[in-house]
Amino acid sequence: MKILAIETSCDDTGAAVVSDGRTVLSNVVASQVPEHILYGGVVPEIASRRHCESVSGVAAEALRRAGTSLQEIDAVAVTYAPGLIGALLVGVNFAKGLAYAAGKPLVPVHHLRGHVAANYLCHADLTPPFLALIVSGGHTHLVSVEDYTVYRVIGRTRDDAAGEAMDKAARLLGFDYPGGLNMDKACTGGDPYAYSFPMPKVTDHPFDFSFSGMKTAAINLLHRMEQTGQTPDRVNIGASYMHCVTECLCDRTRRAFEELKPERFVLAGGVSANSVLRNKMEKLCAQNGVRLYMPSLVFCGDNAAMIGAQGFYENKSGRIAGLNLNAIASMDIDK
Ligand code: KG4
Ligand code: ZN
Repeated sequence: MKILAIETSCDDTGAAVVSDGRTVLSNVVASQVPEHILYGGVVPEIASRRHCESVSGVAAEALRRAGTSLQEIDAVAVTYAPGLIGALLVGVNFAKGLAYAAGKPLVPVHHLRGHVAANYLCHADLTPPFLALIVSGGHTHLVSVEDYTVYRVIGRTRDDAAGEAMDKAARLLGFDYPGGLNMDKACTGGDPYAYSFPMPKVTDHPFDFSFSGMKTAAINLLHRMEQTGQTPDRVNIGASYMHCVTECLCDRTRRAFEELKPERFVLAGGVSANSVLRNKMEKLCAQNGVRLYMPSLVFCGDNAAMIGAQGFYENKSGRIAGLNLNAIASMDIDK
């Protein structure tokens, strides 16, 4: 089954053709980074406008690169939640138009389910059940993936997402947008123990995360340095901060390993590209005898191929939308 997938939940306009949820026939992403870089972050209004301008060209290019046509496609999948509402609406309405015009089923896909499914594209042997850590710009979830469309959230962040915490510190340290990625590149080789940031204590729920304390500590540290005329040591502060964020992620994952004893563990979302996190997860999984699956770097960030992968399984479970499908800014993964 060939699915044409559309993804416009944030600042990347993506279209892809995926076969049977596992094989990428094409994957096109039009990045808006050069424009948002001027503002140090994503400007939602600009993102929506750029999606409008590029989505039809990106979809045509995805079909061309896959060597196929709209008539040969079996279904159109689209990210409908969660994300920037104006950005999501562009993709949803475009996908509705395509599905209607071509007489194909329209498959709604949850963005975070897509991030998990990015791993199906990279690991042919991966099948549920497994434990997943989803770390993106807006979400941080520990999820028990019981089947392709059955999820149980066992831990979540109480405040900021891991990606948001990375981006905020990176911006304060003067790294260009996208901050998390640029801080990762620049701080490899820095001393992770040069500075310390408070580890969160969420006592009533062992699998929940919290990043606002370390973010505030980083703001205060840089403020104090500025007031006392010190030049911040960007590389060591960045390395120490990444160490703390990833320690928190690994600590909750370790607790979940001890309690749930999963055989397989999946890392997903934009922050899964982080080099420190990937190294630590490799060690943690080896120590606990858990098989680790991570997406290749090209599928960590937002892309439509992952939506095509999940779209295959959503379609299989009978999830077909009508032309009244709406975009939804905020939605739990298990809904
Ligand atoms: O999943 P994603 O591409 O978009 C959302 O669904 O939010 O995640 C974007 C997040 C951003 O916060 C970005 O800074 C972060 O992922 N990110 C990274 C790295 N690459 C992307 N954070 C740390 N290290 C990286 N290498
Ligand atoms: Zn994402």
